[in-house]
Amino acid sequence: MRCCDCDDEEPVTTISASQWQKLAACLQQEPMILGYRNTAENLAELYRQGLTSGIVDGQGITAFVAFWPTDRAEFLEFGSIWVKPELRGHGLGHRVFSNLMLHQPPGKTVFAITKNPKVVHLMLAAGWQEATAQTWEEHVPWEVTCGPCDVPGDRHACACKGQRDQCGLYYKLG
Ligand SMILES: CC(C)(COP(=O)(O)OP(=O)(O)OC[C@H]1O[C@@H](n2cnc3c(N)ncnc32)[C@H](O)[C@@H]1OP(=O)(O)O)[C@@H](O)C(=O)NCCC(=O)NCCS
Repeated sequence: MRCCDCDDEEPVTTISASQWQKLAACLQQEPMILGYRNTAENLAELYRQGLTSGIVDGQGITAFVAFWPTDRAEFLEFGSIWVKPELRGHGLGHRVFSNLMLHQPPGKTVFAITKNPKVVHLMLAAGWQEATAQTWEEHVPWEVTCGPCDVPGDRHACACKGQRDQCGLYYKLG
């Protein structure tokens, strides 16, 4: 992970398969996190590519966030932000978010689709822009933001065009 143990900030280089499996199981239980893509294999691959930030302690991964590649190389989706339930509300979400943003790849626009108030707060405080249904496609193409999604019945055929109450688009240009 890029940001790791709270005490020394030393990068963790080895995360076991069972730690990824535990994290994947936690992420998949969260109703506001896209479930289908959060497999242990995908998470480990994002880590390998340097697209994650997290905190690891003796009990495993306690906080995590990732940039997910999209079909268009110039756009990355900020997602899977998660803090172990009993540790929430103490700034760990802020830490992993800020650390990941230090490593926004040059020239790449990052975006998130969420209405989570804590996450929205973090993004706006960090200078992200909020899109409306009218401006949704101005900076991030529709096909990039609304590919497979857990919300509609047919994950590949969402026609809601940003009108759903639970979807808000936030972005930061690269
Ligand atoms: C979202 C989540 C990662 C936040 O982690 P956390 O450790 O509790 O977050 P923090 O304590 O760092 O708080 C983040 C910010 O939200 C702010 N905040 C807290 N409650 C808030 C609220 N109701 N409205 C707006 N902002 C709020 C905090 O003040 C903090 O901002 P600051 O650092 O500028 O003071 C965590 O709640 C979680 O894992 N949720 C379940 C998974 C999930 O739903 N993820 C989001 C998917 S989009």
